[in-house]
Amino acid sequence: MPADPDLRALRDLAVELAVGAGKILIEHLAGARIDVDTKSSSTDMVTEVDRASEAFITSALAQRRPDDGLLGEEGTQHDGTSGVRWVIDPLDGTTNYLYGYPAFSVSIAAEVDGETAVGVVRDPLHDETFSAVRGDGAFCNDRQLRVGGPPTLATALVATGFAYKPEARARQAAVLTHVLPRVRDIRRAGSAALDLCSLAHGRVDCYYERGMGPWDFGAGAFIAKEAGAWVGDLEGGPPSSAIVVGAPPHLAEAFVDLLRDAEAGLAP
Ligand code: IPD
Ligand code: CA
Ligand code: CA
Repeated sequence: MPADPDLRALRDLAVELAVGAGKILIEHLAGARIDVDTKSSSTDMVTEVDRASEAFITSALAQRRPDDGLLGEEGTQHDGTSGVRWVIDPLDGTTNYLYGYPAFSVSIAAEVDGETAVGVVRDPLHDETFSAVRGDGAFCNDRQLRVGGPPTLATALVATGFAYKPEARARQAAVLTHVLPRVRDIRRAGSAALDLCSLAHGRVDCYYERGMGPWDFGAGAFIAKEAGAWVGDLEGGPPSSAIVVGAPPHLAEAFVDLLRDAEAGLAP
């Protein structure tokens, strides 16, 4: 049986690689024309920069932790033998990135025996590194984060995001018509990883989104949880690709009820 990994060492490695990948994003942002392809729909874009960032992170991990598993949004998939698996979104917020809209990030989570134990999200434009190690709390650079939140949902600022498929978006718009009149306001920043870090930081109060990949929320959901947020689904289970919901603990029940009333869990 492999020895228990040193979680702080995994965090330090994730920070080093997320900062390095963030430099790649910034270099190309200032550069010449970027090649763009589309994936699941005409709005779901992938660039050479997403691929370069993933290659930088995964080749470093393969060299420095050859026994670990890897899952990257842009196609990396490798089973390991150590019990550690890295889950990577090399550029979260690709649409923002292509427009120069200042909300994109690099997201790296490390799972140990199937449970997230380390999360790092790097916002290279604002020089902010969000990080968490199981049991150690969550940090933005050196500052520890604790969720607070307003007394009621009616004054909560709620972040969300939308999928790329038109039929899923139509459903998400219908959910929004129920949620928006019952909260302070809605934010759609365009990077799920940063949305969840904003929840940890108190820049928003609550967050929900349906239909993401594990790389979108792995690190961010863990960071929000380590900052004291409740993070789960609509059925009392853990966050998943079906839906990720996050809120300060005292608002969690009311927020889940609101989302259930809005039928936010219905496919597509
Ligand atoms: C997207 C962003 C966006 C969220 C989408 C994600 P990408 O990731 O996180 O905020 O609403 O669901 O797919 O495609 O920019 O890596
Ligand atoms: Ca993403
Ligand atoms: Ca991405």
